[in-house]
Amino acid sequence: MIERLDALRAEGERALADAASAADLEAARVRFLGRKSELTGILRGLKDLTPDERTLVGARANQTRARLEALLAEAESRLEAASAPASSRDVTLPGRRPPVGHRHLIPSVLRELEEIFRRMGFAVAAGPDVEDDWHSFGALNMPKGHPARAATDTFYLQDDSIVLRPHTSSVQIRAMEISKPPLRIISPGRVYRNEAVDATHLFEFHQIEGLYVDENVSMADLKGTLDRFLKEFFGPKTELRFCPSYYPFVEPGAVVDIRCFFCGGKGCQVCGPLSGGWLEVLGAGMVHPNVFREVGYDPERWTGFAFGAGVERLIMLRHGVPDSRYFFANDIRFLTQF
Ligand code: DAH
Repeated sequence: MIERLDALRAEGERALADAASAADLEAARVRFLGRKSELTGILRGLKDLTPDERTLVGARANQTRARLEALLAEAESRLEAASAPASSRDVTLPGRRPPVGHRHLIPSVLRELEEIFRRMGFAVAAGPDVEDDWHSFGALNMPKGHPARAATDTFYLQDDSIVLRPHTSSVQIRAMEISKPPLRIISPGRVYRNEAVDATHLFEFHQIEGLYVDENVSMADLKGTLDRFLKEFFGPKTELRFCPSYYPFVEPGAVVDIRCFFCGGKGCQVCGPLSGGWLEVLGAGMVHPNVFREVGYDPERWTGFAFGAGVERLIMLRHGVPDSRYFFANDIRFLTQF
C-alpha cells in the first residue's frame, strides 16, 4: 500500500505540474484529491487496518495528501498569473486628479476690484482692523456725540477709544496722514458691526473704500469713475443713478443705485417692490472740508471724492446670492461655484 501511495504521489505531481488550464487542474484535483479518488479511499479504509499498518500507511497517506494539496495551490496561482494581462496597470488611462482648492470668492473678488481700480491709477492702501476713535469717527467729521455714530453699531474694545473699525473710511484718514496730495487710493478690507446676523447682515464683512484728492476734482470725476467701475463689475450695460444722501464726511453725499438687471427695472424679488427697479450699491460724495482740515490738507486748495461699497452686497447682486451667510458657511457646494 505504501508503494501504491508513492506511485499515486508521483502521478499526481506530474499531472499537477503539467496542468495547462483550469480544466486540467480541476481534472487532476478530482482524480487525486477528490472524494472518490484512490487516495481518499485509502484514507477512509485506514480504520480497517491493523494498528501497526494504520500507523505506517496513515502517515504516508497524509503526507501524500498534504504534498498534493500544496502542489495544487501552487498550480492554481501559476495559472492565474499566466491568465492575467502582462500588467494590470493601463498606463494610457488619464490620471486621477486629487481635488485642488482655489481662492475663496471674497478674496478673489477683492483682487478683481483692485485690478479695476489699478487700471484707473488707484493704489491699494491698508489700515488696521482695530482702530482708534479718531480715525474711525473724529477725523471723519463725526465728533463725539455726533448722531451719525449711532448709525453703525460699533464694537468698542476699550473705554470708547478703541473699536473694531465699522467701515473702511478710516483708511482714507490713514492714507492722507502719510502722504501729500494728489492722492488716489482704494482700500478693500474687513469691517465689523454689532449686527444680528440674517440674510443681509453679517457682523463681520468687507468694504472697499475709494479716495481721490487733487485740485479741481468735481462730482463729474466721481460720476465717471463710478460709472467705469460699475460697468466693469456688473457689465457694460449697467445704468447708474445718483440720489442725494447724507454722510458726515462728504458734502454733497450720494447713494448710488444701479438699474436692477434681474427685472430690467420693473421691480422684482431682488430689487423689491418699492425700489422702482433700482438697487443701492454704494455711498459716495465730495470730501468734506472738515476732513481735509483734520489731516492738514488745505480745503481751499484741495478737492476730492470718496466712496464706500459693501463687497458681499456687490457679489450678492452680481451672482444672485440670496443669503450673506453662505459666504462664511464653508459649504463646498456653494464655494466651488465661484
Ligand atoms: N462709510 C460708509 C458706510 O460704512 C460708506 C461710505 C459712504 C463711504 C460715503 C464713503 C462715502 O467714502 O463717501 O456705510
